Amino acid sequence: MVHIDKTIYGYFLPQSWIHHKSYSGYLWYATIHMLLPFYFWGAYLVVCRIRANKQFQGFMENSGLKSPLGKFPALIKNVPVNEECRKLVIKKNGIPLEAFREKKGWIESNMEISIEAMSDRVHDGCLEIVYSNIPLTKSIKLLSEIDSIPAGKILIGKSRAKTIYADFKDYPHFLVAGSTGSGKSTFLRNLIFTLIYKEKDIKFKIIDLKGGLEFQNLFHDIDNVRVISSMSIACAALMHLSEDINYRIEYLKNEKLTDISEYFKKFSLEERKTKDLKLAYREVIVIDEAAELYLSSQNPKEESIKTSKAMLNRIARLGRAVGIHIVLATQRPDVSALDPQVKANLSGVVCFRAGNVASSMVIIGNKRASEISAEIPGRAVWKTDNDLLEVQTPFISTDEIYKKLTDARIIQPRKDEAMNDQI
Ligand SMILES: Nc1ncnc2c1ncn2[C@@H]1O[C@H](COP(=O)(O)OP(=O)(O)OP(=O)(O)O)[C@@H](O)[C@H]1O
Ligand SMILES: [Mg+2]
Repeated sequence: MVHIDKTIYGYFLPQSWIHHKSYSGYLWYATIHMLLPFYFWGAYLVVCRIRANKQFQGFMENSGLKSPLGKFPALIKNVPVNEECRKLVIKKNGIPLEAFREKKGWIESNMEISIEAMSDRVHDGCLEIVYSNIPLTKSIKLLSEIDSIPAGKILIGKSRAKTIYADFKDYPHFLVAGSTGSGKSTFLRNLIFTLIYKEKDIKFKIIDLKGGLEFQNLFHDIDNVRVISSMSIACAALMHLSEDINYRIEYLKNEKLTDISEYFKKFSLEERKTKDLKLAYREVIVIDEAAELYLSSQNPKEESIKTSKAMLNRIARLGRAVGIHIVLATQRPDVSALDPQVKANLSGVVCFRAGNVASSMVIIGNKRASEISAEIPGRAVWKTDNDLLEVQTPFISTDEIYKKLTDARIIQPRKDEAMNDQI
């Protein structure tokens, strides 16, 4: 019948099985043998899990995340979400979600992960953390993405898990901060280009007091754009827009509408133009290096500049509902270079590499931006009221913009004098 080679199996099989040449014993033996890899795999998983739990426990003990009863959060599972991300499911043990959010930066740097999302799981109150530890892409071409950008939105950048778009409805005003050469002007260029290229109902006033010709050369002959490079014209433009706020508020009141988005939904651009040209467009004020505007006002004689600061403040507070928005870039978002009230209203923050921890703290409230490598231009932290994500922002060259906007250019470039009249 079944021949069992004693020399090979004798070590493992009970002698009685071999002597009696037991068939069922052999089957048992074979089954156990076949299942051995699974047992080992199971044991390996258990060991991994014990180690992961221990390591997680250690992180939590060091993080200071502890319930009033002295309990630490406990790891329940760590599962893949997609090719780039995994999800931790954590038993909170009475610690609120907010406490985890506050420790997000700490968890990321100590566990060497990048957290994409944190949320409470509704059915059992556990915490879910979606994270990734694979590197972010180092460059994104805006032109490859331009067609997939949803209407009215701009592309902020790509995180490990998602592509981030934003619009003026969700983030009425933006702050673009970071040290020199980190990517601020490039980001402004992206934003302006995307909206000129894809939208018809936005007008821009670009205030560039650094004396550079970058914006001037690229956009000066685009119909809906005014590039302003002198302080006095900048002041006049801000005052004009601030007055526009009153006009728009009154107009919307008479129309029995609460904000400009309703008005835009109700009437097309053409209809709006015939009704009242003053409310046909959203107005976006882009300021590259706001400190140029703010620090000049330290000269007490410059009354008009003080006024323009006040106007900017007013637009930041009231512009949202009436469709007047600010996109402000600065190297120095501290009190001397940026009005705290204005800063408080800039709800979408793109923070490129910060020169030091203190600057990063001022801009985003933690040190993440100071840890961005200088080797990766365009790398930034995107901060909103409830999110903080590392992203790679897109890039478009000036040549590409020039070529793409050919159709939008007006035939006769405006003269500076004419520009002033139109403000
Ligand atoms: N998203 C990006 N992808 C790739 N390269 C980028 C990106 N953003 C910026 N760069 C590169 O970094 C350089 C500096 O960018 P940029 O001029 O926008 O910096 P900045 O923050 O405005 O500097 P400054 O404060 O001196 O004006 C650019 O010339 C460009 O080559
Ligand atoms: Mg710049």
